[in-house]
Amino acid sequence: MQLLDGRSTSEQIRKELAEAVQQRKKDGKKIPHLAAILVGNDGGSLTYVAAKVKACEQIGFESTLIRYDDSVPEEILLAKVQSLNEDKSIDGFIVQLPLPKHIDELKITQAIDPMKDVDGFHPVNLGKMILNLPGFLPATPAGIVELIRRNQIKTEGKKCVIIGRSNIVGTPLSIMLGRNADPGNCTVTLAHSKTKNLHEICQSADILIAAIGQPDFVTAEMVKDRAVVIDVGTTRIEDATRARGWRLKGDVKFDEVAPKCSFITPVPGGVGPMTIASLMINTLKAMELKGK
Ligand code: GUN
Repeated sequence: MQLLDGRSTSEQIRKELAEAVQQRKKDGKKIPHLAAILVGNDGGSLTYVAAKVKACEQIGFESTLIRYDDSVPEEILLAKVQSLNEDKSIDGFIVQLPLPKHIDELKITQAIDPMKDVDGFHPVNLGKMILNLPGFLPATPAGIVELIRRNQIKTEGKKCVIIGRSNIVGTPLSIMLGRNADPGNCTVTLAHSKTKNLHEICQSADILIAAIGQPDFVTAEMVKDRAVVIDVGTTRIEDATRARGWRLKGDVKFDEVAPKCSFITPVPGGVGPMTIASLMINTLKAMELKGK
C-alpha cells in the first residue's frame, strides 16, 4: 500500500506557484489577488478559509477575507458579490459553502462573474468543463485529478466508482474522469443514496472515490484488492485527546481498508491540501485568462 500524500504533492504545486509569482514580479506584472467571503462560524468553513488565506501568503498572492454574521441578508451578500465582480484589484473570489439556510447558494453562485469564479461553480464554468473548454475547474475534483496525475496512477480503461453526486465534487469528477484525457478514460459509475447493491458496485471498482461526508462509510469488504481509494470526507468528530477537542474523519475506514489498497489518501493530508492547491492554480489562471 502506498499513501497518496496530498500534503507533499500540494507543497510541490505551491512551490511552482511561488516561482511563478516571483517571475511575475520580475516582469512587472500584477500579483494575483484572491478574496474569500465567509458567512457565519461553521467550524469546517473557518478551517478551510484560514487554510486558503495561509496558502496565499505562502505563495505570495494577495488575499482579502470578508466575513459576515450568520444572519446576513441575501441582498447584502449579492451586493458584495457584485462589488467584487467590479473590483479591478480582485482577480478571483470564492464564497465558502455551505451558506445559511435563508440564502440561496445557487443564486449567489450564479451572481459571480464567471471570469472571477475561481471555485469553478458557476454554470458557465461547469459547462466549459463538460466541453473541455478553457475555464475554471472545480477545486476538489481538479485536485483529485492532479493528485492522480502527479502520482502517475493509470486510469485508462479503469472502472471508477464515485460515491456521492454533489455539484461540487461527485458530479464534476464523474465528467473529468470519464472524458478522453489522461488522467481520464475511466468507466465511471456515480453512486448515490438511491443506488442499489452499492457494496457489489464498490467491490468492482479499480478506483473508489468516497465523497458523502459519512465517517467510516467505506469498509474493507466494499473494496477490491489493489484498488486505488480516494477519501474526500472531512467530518469533524469529537476527540478529547486533542487540545482543540476534535479531529477530522474521512468517509473510509482507513485502518481496515488501507492494507487492501494499491494507493489510498489519508484524512487529513490527502484531498484537502489538493483542493487548496487547485484554488491557487485557478487564481493564477484568472489572471492568465484575462491576459494580465
Ligand atoms: N465547501 C466545501 N468545499 C468547498 C470549496 O471547494 N469551495 C467553497 N467555496 N466552499 C466549499
